[in-house]
Amino acid sequence: PPPKKVNVKIVEVGPRDGLQNEKTVIPLETKIALIEKLAATGLKTIEAGSFVSPKWVPQMANSREILDHILNHRIKSAHPITYSFLAPNSKGFSDASAMLAKYPTAYAPETAPESDKASKPGLEVAVFAAATESFNQKNLNCSIAESLQKFKDVITSAKDAGLSVRAYISVVLGCPFDGYEVDPHKVAEIATELLEMGADEISLGDTTGMGTAPRTGALLKCMESAGIMPDDLAMHFHDTYGQALVNTAVSLEHGIRTFDSSVAGLGGCPYSPGATGNVSSENMVYFMETLGMETGVDLDALADVGQWISGELGRSNDSSVGRAVLGA
Ligand code: HMG
Ligand code: MG
Repeated sequence: PPPKKVNVKIVEVGPRDGLQNEKTVIPLETKIALIEKLAATGLKTIEAGSFVSPKWVPQMANSREILDHILNHRIKSAHPITYSFLAPNSKGFSDASAMLAKYPTAYAPETAPESDKASKPGLEVAVFAAATESFNQKNLNCSIAESLQKFKDVITSAKDAGLSVRAYISVVLGCPFDGYEVDPHKVAEIATELLEMGADEISLGDTTGMGTAPRTGALLKCMESAGIMPDDLAMHFHDTYGQALVNTAVSLEHGIRTFDSSVAGLGGCPYSPGATGNVSSENMVYFMETLGMETGVDLDALADVGQWISGELGRSNDSSVGRAVLGA
């Protein structure tokens, strides 16, 4: 028999990280159509929205309606899908869980009966800290220590509700305000605290795309020395300097098997001036395929989604693989 392929988990962040920075209001129907089209490509985790202040990030204001749609409609997919929502404080979590309380049928995939796994949504809550005080302040209006205190309540409540929890740490390889002065030991310290609070996965965000191969390696070595296992980590690369796949290769060598990416390379962070999109999901899936790894994602179908959403947003398709696959 052929050797068993190594599975890689792709976390599609397009509907949240990809859209949050778009200036014109994107209709709810377009956001829902994007999620449904992505769900049909074989992706198993989709970040679908964000329960943050609408004054801070207006584009995410209708995340409640998106969660409502996910809970009420059986979105077609060949596999069980986990939908993830950001919630940085108790207000965000209670807005999300007020909806959940009305839909006791929604539960994490691990607890779903075998017979119904493909049709019930799994739900995940994501908190987000930063590796530098300056970025944390700009993004969350409080210090790192204060935000960790708030996350503790969110994580405890989410775990009590049977949800899985992801925790981001932003600007791990470069900060728009502090430059390259990001201490990897600080990243390891925050990650350890979040894991101890009960987070299931830490996503290390290269928000500014300033990461390079050697610095990615050094960061991951530091995480290893702190006793943080590769299974506890995901990598979240933005492709501002075109280094995302090089950094992905380094991360694979360090045993990481979960990667965030965004269809058509959509994205940017409103609190990171000049930040461009995430590494595109099409490029990520193609790269994994060239390495003989298994993503479960249909690249042609994904490229179609990328072309479609780029058209809807009136922007060029930022995925080189997407364009190549489509001959566009
Ligand atoms: P604040 O102003 O300090 O909040 O903002 P507050 O607690 O003082 O409350 C002020 C008002 O906001 C109140 O309303 C609250 O109810 C409301 P008012 O009485 O004035 O009418 N409020 C909320 N409303 C809705 N949802 C909530 C919420 N919380 C308070 N959850 C806050 C603090 C955290 C709210 C604000 O800073 C915020 O919303 N920040 C979000 C910033 C954000 O979403 N950034 C992008 C995501 S992170 C990212 O993109 C990076 C990532 O991709 C990884 C990477 O690339 O590195 C994840
Ligand atoms: Mg991001």
